[in-house]
Amino acid sequence: MNKTVICPGSFDPVTLGHLDVIKRSSKMFDHVIVAVLINSAKSPSFSIEERIELLEKVTDGLKNVEIVSFEGLLAEYCKERGVDAIVKGLRAVSDFEYEFQMAITNKKLNPQLETIFLMADADSMYLSSSMVREVASMGGDISNFVPPCVHDRIVERINNSKR
Ligand code: PNS
Repeated sequence: MNKTVICPGSFDPVTLGHLDVIKRSSKMFDHVIVAVLINSAKSPSFSIEERIELLEKVTDGLKNVEIVSFEGLLAEYCKERGVDAIVKGLRAVSDFEYEFQMAITNKKLNPQLETIFLMADADSMYLSSSMVREVASMGGDISNFVPPCVHDRIVERINNSKR
């Protein structure tokens, strides 16, 4: 059976934890849509174009992965695209309550839509985009947290801002 799943998020920026969930999903399902939320209420660190560009780079070679952006309700976007399930990474018990609330809400809005949780890989358990942004802004080494091209882009930005 042909199954399409979606990995939604802000990806500001994409971390090794996100990439792990995307790669594992691409092995399990026929088509994986990685969907970057356009959220006009937030002021992101990376523009939507940059986040898409970085996601395209880090998923290059994963033939069944498509990178898109979306605005509005995820459940509606999933209906439009014929998505069978949302795939989310679950890092710790602290993630559970929020993820559980979102999964139930999405199911109420679109009863066909399942949410599947993948346990975060042991190496990514602690990772988050906000932690990466904070460490980078204070000059810390983020090479263990993000793919090399994301690392280089952040370092380049920091160096440019010092000029
Ligand atoms: O990476 P994030 O910021 O934790 O991702 C959250 C995301 C994008 C998955 C979530 O905010 C979302 O789905 N937003 C779209 C708006 C929506 O559908 N809201 C109701 C979901 S309960």
